[in-house]
Amino acid sequence: MIPYSRQCIDEEDVEAVASTLRSDYLTTGPQVPLFEEELALRVNAPYCVAVSSATAALHISMLALGIGPQDTVLVSNVSFVSSANCARMVGAKVEFVDVDEKSGLITPKTLKKALERLKAQGIFVKAVVAVHLSGRPLDLAGLYKLKQEYGFYLIEDAAHALGAVYKGDTIGSCKYSDLCVFSFHPVKIITTCEGGAVTCQDEGLYKELQLLRSHGIVHDKALLQDQSYPEFYYEMQTLGFNYRLSDVQAALGISQLNKLDKFLEKRRALAKLYPTFLNEHLKEYDISLPMADLEEHEENLSSWHLYQIGVPNRDCVYQTLRAKGIGVQIHYLPISRHPYYGKIHLEGSDKFFKRALSIPLHVRLEKRDLSLICALLLESLDKV
Ligand SMILES: Cc1ncc(COP(=O)(O)O)c(C=O)c1O
Repeated sequence: MIPYSRQCIDEEDVEAVASTLRSDYLTTGPQVPLFEEELALRVNAPYCVAVSSATAALHISMLALGIGPQDTVLVSNVSFVSSANCARMVGAKVEFVDVDEKSGLITPKTLKKALERLKAQGIFVKAVVAVHLSGRPLDLAGLYKLKQEYGFYLIEDAAHALGAVYKGDTIGSCKYSDLCVFSFHPVKIITTCEGGAVTCQDEGLYKELQLLRSHGIVHDKALLQDQSYPEFYYEMQTLGFNYRLSDVQAALGISQLNKLDKFLEKRRALAKLYPTFLNEHLKEYDISLPMADLEEHEENLSSWHLYQIGVPNRDCVYQTLRAKGIGVQIHYLPISRHPYYGKIHLEGSDKFFKRALSIPLHVRLEKRDLSLICALLLESLDKV
């Protein structure tokens, strides 16, 4: 089976993990702050907090922003469920923003529509979770304008988008947002097995995130509320979690981060190669390719986590390709359609979902794999 995505681990990664295993620290040692420093540098953010998953990162992001049961959070509707669940984890109400039917991304237009709909009901939106689906950068300047107008917090869910660039700025710099969240699950751009991170520009948020990641416990004598304690005492000042990344995982993260540019280059080369096999068949089989219909700013770069095409009869094509050993995948059933969220249908999300098929894209693939994937794809489609 050629999987739609998979990790790329080499001997350097194995050695980085092995040498940390031989060191004094398995958890909370020197590798975690080093990983945070290098990641912050890479995405051009002043602050970075590494955690055990992107889901954990989204959860503490909600808490750090003070979001709670009295609040409403708007979420990109085509995403993994974590993008919305984080708001439920703090008791907030979730509402959904519909997506552009071609890209699966929310746009300033779809967000404005959702904000106006809620405003008409007297609902103030406290935060928006905006997803860079497939690694393709959102129109952040457009979203930022609405943030200024409506006064919500903007959280970028960049689980797919490490290395993506928007108008020359690396995703994660938080130029337009309050917080940005990454995932290091094995199918993502780099991996720490499980893992995630939050970046931000605000020192207060950074300190709050650090506290929430580790039980809400303060060790720094200068920060203890009771200054009469000796310096070996610690205080729990807020309710936090054990959402720490281990030093072993961070060592893998540093080693993977060293290869990020190589990974991105390969993904971008493969994404350019697919159209060379498919372009001449698009009309004949009613295939749509990513980027084909939307302007790509020359300073916008996708990280190409996913290569999502659109095809008719998608479920049938999925089954045929799987039976032939091509590990295609579907991203995603719109979150609002899950039973927990009320099985709500939104037009753009439904249209995108109906045709969306992720065909394999990862750094171990070669031209001959893409040629085989495309030949089998065309075989599985009917001419229109
Ligand atoms: C868009 C998006 N957000 C959040 C997550 C959660 O990531 P993690 O598995 O690191 O918790 C995922 C995972 O697939 C995702 O795709």
